[in-house]
Amino acid sequence: MDPTRIKVAQNPDHLAELAADILLHQFQDNKDLNICCATGATPVRVYDKVAATIQKKKIPMGHIRCFHLDEYVGLPPQDPRSYAHYMRQHVVLPWGIEDKNAILWDGCASNPQVECQKYEALIQNHGGIDWMILGLGMNGHVAFNEPSSDPHSGCHVIRLAASTLQNNAPYLGGLSPEYGMTMGIGSILRARNILLLVSGGHKSAPLNRLLTGNIDTDFPASHLKQHPDMTIVADAAAMKGVI
Ligand code: PGA
Repeated sequence: MDPTRIKVAQNPDHLAELAADILLHQFQDNKDLNICCATGATPVRVYDKVAATIQKKKIPMGHIRCFHLDEYVGLPPQDPRSYAHYMRQHVVLPWGIEDKNAILWDGCASNPQVECQKYEALIQNHGGIDWMILGLGMNGHVAFNEPSSDPHSGCHVIRLAASTLQNNAPYLGGLSPEYGMTMGIGSILRARNILLLVSGGHKSAPLNRLLTGNIDTDFPASHLKQHPDMTIVADAAAMKGVI
């Protein structure tokens, strides 16, 4: 991967600044923009910094549409453990995204397979994703695409890996959902730009594998290397030991 597309931050706060700058730059020219947001711990500071600047500079947001990567099957959007709720709390409300432009998964849709087809169609009907913000899972998952996921898949239902549930346990309050709905690797690679955020010493092994390893279905993030417009923002702790 082109090393100029890897930005190394001194710490998580600096990572948030670098990533927020990239996103805010996109909001400037008032063009319609479709952003897909990762949930998880890493992007929270980024979303907060973006929100602070939007509020301070009164940046108009009527042209920004917001999607998210994935959702737990069975959790309604108002459940604080759902990713739709995370999106409202960290992105939609603080960024001032209009309700009609917050295009969020419904974890309680009566038929999750149909919900996935609908979500994929919504992405396409709105012209595709311009900026895809991603995190890197410890086992190389991106969104809920766990190892051995089909690299061409669109939005689909997936059985969640035990390791993913273990990592997410602090946010799940004792719940252990069996399935998730997720954008597929194919949906992710169709985005025009990818912004991958990697923070913390525990992410240095997966980051090293991403940067130095082969493309391999056992490590879903490796497929991202095919994307012509991916920027990685990683902090020094995550980069430690990366060769
Ligand atoms: P994190 O999650 O940002 O909470 O580390 C990344 C992921 O597991 O996808």
